[in-house]
Order: sequence, then structure tokens, then C-alpha cells
Amino acid sequence: MFIDPKRATYKERYKLMTGSIVPRPIAFVSTISSDGDLNLAPFSYFAAICAEPPTLCFAPGRRSSDGERKDTLINIEATGEFVVNTVTEGLGRAMVATAAEYSAQRNEFEVARLTPVPSHIVKPPRVKESPITMECKLHQVIPIGSGGVGGGDLVIGEIVMFHIADELYDEGRINIHKLKPLGRLAGAEYTTLGKIVSLQVDVQHPDNG
Ligand SMILES: Cc1cc2nc3c(=O)[nH]c(=O)nc-3n(C[C@H](O)[C@H](O)[C@H](O)COP(=O)(O)O)c2cc1C
Repeated sequence: MFIDPKRATYKERYKLMTGSIVPRPIAFVSTISSDGDLNLAPFSYFAAICAEPPTLCFAPGRRSSDGERKDTLINIEATGEFVVNTVTEGLGRAMVATAAEYSAQRNEFEVARLTPVPSHIVKPPRVKESPITMECKLHQVIPIGSGGVGGGDLVIGEIVMFHIADELYDEGRINIHKLKPLGRLAGAEYTTLGKIVSLQVDVQHPDNG
């Protein structure tokens, strides 16, 4: 079978993409508005870009209800700062609770009963319950699409501070078994770490992603 995306609705394309691009890590993004309101929301269109400088990206889509920008994007464009908090198995339910369309003034830290703790460099707080958090400064926002429902923006940010729980840090590496990351599949389905396989090949590429 083949599917021409031009002949599918955006919802159909969305289902094909979220079902095919799996599993996805989840950026739990904390921001602060220009009025000082705290915001927290998950984004699984999320990836690392490079390490010099340490750079990541995630993609807030337009709100499906009215095509407007999501609060996270509005706050980042206003302040130039955000924090990416890692989502673990234990944080799953709280993370999902923050994903409803709340008003900009609603503090999702309170909704999810999570604890905001001060960052070192940026204004948005970190999630205390998240064992790895990355303070970021905005590098660039790249708009994609025509600006309405179905479109989105790519947010690129530089990591200016890592916070890592001591028990996860093992001679420069993160102990993934202790981290217990949660991945997004499609809809309400998530995945935890399954079987880990080691693929040793003759030619080593130490800088591969
Ligand atoms: C696990 C998970 C991943 C999500 N990933 C994305 C995403 O990559 N892009 C997006 O626009 N919305 C995503 N959402 C939906 C947003 O979290 C949701 O629209 C949220 O209300 C946005 O909040 P905000 O308006 O405060 O920014 C995701 C939701 C969940 C539960």
C-alpha cells in the first residue's frame, strides 16, 4: 500500500506519523509567560541536534481547536527561555495531566502536583521530580505550514545547564536502567524500556547519534 499525503486529511497524516515514528522521547517543557505565569506541557516531537553547542529541538503544533499557538511557544517567543524535563515511568500520569488545553493563567505544576524548583540560569523553573532537566536558551523558531490548524513550529534551543540526579550519573554516562525513561507511542499508549540489544560492528563511529 502507498498513501499520498496530499490525498489524506491532516488527522490521517497525524495518525500515520505518530504510529510510524516510534517510540518518541518526551520533552516535558516548563516555561514562564511575560506576566510570570508558569506553564508545563509535554512534547514528543522532540530530538537532539548536536553537541557543539549542545542543541535540541521540539515542535509545538498549532492548537487543533482554533489554530492558535500553544502557550509553551508563546512563552518561549516572549522570554527566549525554557526547560526540558525528562519524563520517567513514575512521572507518566502527572505528565499526561498537564496536556489538556488549560488557559494560559492555569499553572500546570499545580494541576499535576509537581514541584517547581529554581533553575540556575533561566527564569522558568525545573520540575523537581524529574531526574534530568536541561535549561535552554532559544536559538530559533522555524514556522512550518500556513499558520493554522495542522501546522506547527520547530523550536531550537541551546542547553545552557544540565541537572542530573547523582545516582544516574556514571563516569560521564547516564544509567538508563536507573533513569527508567517513558516513550510515547500513538494515542494513549506509552512504552517503557524493553530488551536492550548491543550491536557491535567492525567499524566504530563514536560520534553517531
Ligand atoms: C505524551 C504527549 C506528547 C505530546 N507531544 C506533543 C507534540 O510533540 N506537539 C504538540 O503540539 N503537542 C503535543 N502534545 C499535546 C500538548 O502537550 C498539549 O497541546 C498541551 O496542552 C500544550 O500545552 P500549552 O498550551 O500549555 O503549551 C503531547 C501530549 C502528550 C500527552
